[in-house]
Amino acid sequence: MDLKEAIYGRRSVRRYNDKPISDIDISEIMEAACWAPSAVNLQPWYFVVCRSSESMKKLSRIMDGSIFGLKKVLNNRFKSHPEVINETVDFVKSLGGAKVCILTFLQQEHYDEELAAVESAAAAMQNIVLTAYSKGISSCWLTAPLHVENELREAFAPGKGRLIAAITLGYSDAETKAPKRKEGRVTVI
Ligand SMILES: Cc1cc2nc3c(=O)[nH]c(=O)nc-3n(C[C@H](O)[C@H](O)[C@H](O)COP(=O)(O)O)c2cc1C
Repeated sequence: MDLKEAIYGRRSVRRYNDKPISDIDISEIMEAACWAPSAVNLQPWYFVVCRSSESMKKLSRIMDGSIFGLKKVLNNRFKSHPEVINETVDFVKSLGGAKVCILTFLQQEHYDEELAAVESAAAAMQNIVLTAYSKGISSCWLTAPLHVENELREAFAPGKGRLIAAITLGYSDAETKAPKRKEGRVTVI
């Protein structure tokens, strides 16, 4: 797929059907993640790819605990759009029926330039969502799991660094519309 098509066509999808994602697709998506640029070539990411029903159940159980903190954030941001709050809460509880959920952590607990490490992990995550889209696989990037970061780290990545975000993957079962992009965010000088 053309890069432009992937960048403009990818949407956050929050409901998936039952079709499984193949081993080869998971392996190619994760390989693309690891080819992201990284600050001083640290490659500071550590991914846990949950796909077994046991790991997905364990994840969902922990995610239930994030709802309280998440609702506070959503109430501030989407006061006049209660439907967005409800949709997001339902999604975080169920993960939209996703077949796979990737947890992105930092590899180490300490980095001299932590922000640069976080940026590197985010670059890898962008490779994930675009590569998935190019294969017809939908995704949603979520920071809602940060409300239960300690629990997720203990359960899935003991001894690793902070949790950056999660990405759900699956075949879409939803109509999506692109949210309008805001004006005035670029100055060319
Ligand atoms: C850093 C980051 C955090 C996000 N966290 C969440 C989340 O916790 N829950 C959710 O439903 N969507 C989350 N999203 C998806 C955004 O809501 C979505 O990208 C945005 O509304 C634009 O829509 P689009 O991805 O279809 O272009 C997140 C996206 C990013 C980049």
